[in-house]
Amino acid sequence: MPLKKLVAGNWKMHGLSSDLAEIEAIASEARKYPEVDVALCVPAILIERAARAVPGFRIGGQDVHQAEKGAHTGCTSALMLLDAGASLTIVGHSERREAQRESDSQVKAKAEAALSVGLSVILCVGESLEIREAGRATETVLTQLDGSVPNRIGGEAELAIAYEPIWAIGTGKIPTSGEIAEMHSAIRRELRERFGADGGEVRILYGGSVKASNAEEIFAIADVDGALVGGASLTVRDFIPIVAAAAVRS
Ligand code: 13P
Repeated sequence: MPLKKLVAGNWKMHGLSSDLAEIEAIASEARKYPEVDVALCVPAILIERAARAVPGFRIGGQDVHQAEKGAHTGCTSALMLLDAGASLTIVGHSERREAQRESDSQVKAKAEAALSVGLSVILCVGESLEIREAGRATETVLTQLDGSVPNRIGGEAELAIAYEPIWAIGTGKIPTSGEIAEMHSAIRRELRERFGADGGEVRILYGGSVKASNAEEIFAIADVDGALVGGASLTVRDFIPIVAAAAVRS
């Protein structure tokens, strides 16, 4: 049985009060595809207003601090995200791994902190172009998984993995279907080795230049259980056709 697909939008540093109407439109259109789980990960400051605007629709954060609380200026705890109305959060996005120098062990601690309060997690991994060209993409992604996936999964909150090759993010370039298939199957193998049957239940999303024009082909690949979408998640016009493509493959 294929897993139910999850299509999550990552709004990154986009979104003001004036965009709440777009979130409402996305949530309302997404309800037409109950065979797909749909979520929007918005800037932390917009979570509460977004969650109030679209009750029952999944709103998520884009990062979380690993500590429960304390002297961490400018950071947001898992409980704060939950309190604001989030039901999930992204951790370990490559933009944070690079710009904020987040390590695998930090990403693991963040994922654990989120899962422990009942917040589902989309944990991102992915290689740079340099590493892909050196033939070390799979090895690199498996090392990231090894260092950043929590030791315990399978509770009420869900862990999903997003494979996002850095060179495909915001560039319009995507790996070949064969390359995506190879990476997703390596990730699946690793998860099964580590977690047994539970590893077969972890959704593996693809992310990086997913658009309406390539979504159906991507969703047809084995072990692609959804997508993490950046630019094309910002408008109902671009995002909903991706959700519809996931529904076709459900
Ligand atoms: P794009 O879809 O804009 O390439 O971004 C992908 C991404 O980074 C999602 O987290």
